Amino acid sequence: MRVLVTGGAGYIGSHTVLKLLGQGYEVLVLDNYANSSPQALARVKILAQRGFDIREGDVCDAAFLNDVFADFRPDAVIHFAGLKAVGESNQEPLHYYKKNVSGSITLLECMQAHDCRQIVFSSSATVYGEAEYLPYDEAHPLQPTNPYGRTKLFVEEIIRDWAKSWPAASAVLLRYFNPVGADPSGLIGEDPRAIPNNLVPYIAQVAVGRLDHLNVFGDDYDTRDGTGERDYIHVEDLADAHLAAVRYAQDHKGCEAINIGTGHGTTVLELLAAFEEASGKKIAHQTVAKREGDVARSFASVSKAYDLLGWRAERDVADMCRSTWNWQSNNPFGYDG
Ligand code: WQD
Repeated sequence: MRVLVTGGAGYIGSHTVLKLLGQGYEVLVLDNYANSSPQALARVKILAQRGFDIREGDVCDAAFLNDVFADFRPDAVIHFAGLKAVGESNQEPLHYYKKNVSGSITLLECMQAHDCRQIVFSSSATVYGEAEYLPYDEAHPLQPTNPYGRTKLFVEEIIRDWAKSWPAASAVLLRYFNPVGADPSGLIGEDPRAIPNNLVPYIAQVAVGRLDHLNVFGDDYDTRDGTGERDYIHVEDLADAHLAAVRYAQDHKGCEAINIGTGHGTTVLELLAAFEEASGKKIAHQTVAKREGDVARSFASVSKAYDLLGWRAERDVADMCRSTWNWQSNNPFGYDG
């Protein structure tokens, strides 16, 4: 079976490509390297001990995309390619709508033109917005609070309409909670281009000495210790969920949105302590004001993922911290290190 992976050089994409190769899939990776490194794919080839096609380009480029589909004739697409920084999306909404929404429309048009019927889409729990109840289940109201989250919601709805209009189509929309961790080899991992927005890569860069200390965004939330609580999911579990979704899309038509998380929350201070334990490093930190737009608590209802995909998370926060530290300590400056 041939799988086209857009954004396959990225953090979650590279981990998913490695798993696809391990399961014998034929893979083509399409990436414009706007927020990723070709080095990640070189290392995936080493780990997989298998080759795969790589095409540098943009999903917004219809002519390029048609050439790729004509050459590779994919049976399925896993669509990671897109911009994903919440703060940046507030500054540059049109750029985000162009890349994330128009790019996805171009991809879907090309899929249908080449009779490629299955798509697994990289969505996000950000589509839920402020919690009306917890845990978030897939029926929770969809009320994203930033342009990035709205691009994810709009693409979900576009894919849903596309699948309705084409009875042969099948689509799985995976709503990720908080992806963290790395492959146990330490050869691939999360490598933010600029100062990390997200907690775990920020802590990892403090631990390795690239950043001075962590700023804890608020300590008077209504949580166990006052700091923000999130559902962190190991990137390997997340990659496994994509393979389960590809298998599901082979046997089912229509469109399903599915949460991918552990079903448990971890606070900032709990994660900090787990990282200190895993790395043996003291992480200097200070409490500062809350970050605008942050919610107090976010964690997933994960029963639908098990019922439909037969998937559940297997790795815990200690695994996430250990694997992150193994990656960061072996690659202090990421792929450009
Ligand atoms: C986690 C917790 C912060 C940084 C974001 C996106 C979401 C998704 C995942 C793409 C919060 C606290 C963080 C720091 C801190 N990305 N924190 N100091 O905000 O839950 O989700 O990433 O889909 O769309 O919104 O993740 O890692 O930024 O924050 O105290 O330097 O850590 O307040 O409680 P978040 P995060």
